[in-house]
Amino acid sequence: MKPYTLNNGVIMPPLGFGTYSIPPDQVERSVRDALDCGYRMIDTAQWYGNETEVGRGIVESGVARSEIFLVTKLQSGRHVRRSVAESMHKLGVDYLDLLLIHWPMGQDEKIWREMEQCVARGEVRAIGLSNFYGEDFENILRCGDIPPQVIQQELHPFRQQTELVRRYHQLGIVPQAWSPLACGRCDIFTHPLLADIGAAYGKTPAQVALRFLVQCGICPLPKSGHKNRMRENIDIFDFSLSPDELISLRSLDQGHGLFGWYD
Ligand SMILES: NC(=O)c1ccc[n+]([C@@H]2O[C@H](COP(=O)([O-])OP(=O)(O)OC[C@H]3O[C@@H](n4cnc5c(N)ncnc54)[C@H](OP(=O)(O)O)[C@@H]3O)[C@@H](O)[C@H]2O)c1
Repeated sequence: MKPYTLNNGVIMPPLGFGTYSIPPDQVERSVRDALDCGYRMIDTAQWYGNETEVGRGIVESGVARSEIFLVTKLQSGRHVRRSVAESMHKLGVDYLDLLLIHWPMGQDEKIWREMEQCVARGEVRAIGLSNFYGEDFENILRCGDIPPQVIQQELHPFRQQTELVRRYHQLGIVPQAWSPLACGRCDIFTHPLLADIGAAYGKTPAQVALRFLVQCGICPLPKSGHKNRMRENIDIFDFSLSPDELISLRSLDQGHGLFGWYD
């Protein structure tokens, strides 16, 4: 698993564990299971309302804090410093590895500069964006001293955003894929092209989809509440898709998002 080196030198795992929509009473166990399966990046958000349970899962796992790359996202632009302190308190940590603005909120340049101060104080190691497009994105590039290190977008075989991903790479920004398994849509888990390609490697359609993202220079954040699927989703670093297979997977792109927002 070759990690990413972000544009500020921080090291980030090539794949993370998503925690959105895990039922509250299963978050702690799921995070513990994911860490036990070898995940070392956990993605949460203030909006998910599960930071406390994520923090408990981390403690219970017995994995050292220093080995874990912890991501959360701001839900509002008010009182950024206090809001970050609250997230750290809930998560039971004294620093965050990555802090994102969850979506454009207005006053984003002001929020960004306050996030830069969080970095200066050592509360946050890297900062980035989520669901920013067009002018909202360009404004952040112009306004700050620190360029975004990571951006989360809807990215999966049916929503590839190739030009945008190329631009992020040119700017030295690592794209992370939210809903990297399309949240199960488009029959992704039985899709004939993904299944055919996977059969040659003894891999499932989910593994082919995630491997495709990794080879496109995208960091996927798959979510599962099942330990066997968590294992399956991280077991993608022992095979490589060929250039022809990558080209044929490009054909799955639908050119629009599947969730009706941030298109
Ligand atoms: N920044 C943002 O705005 C944003 C938006 C959406 C998501 N996210 C992040 O991205 C993460 C992932 O996205 P997501 O949770 O929407 O969807 P996803 O990871 O694309 O898909 C999750 C769905 O696929 C199922 N699944 C997972 N692995 C499977 C496998 N190997 N075989 C069969 N089914 C499998 C899961 O079911 P089970 O759980 O039952 O296994 C669940 O229903 C989120 O958890 C969150 O951390 C961020």
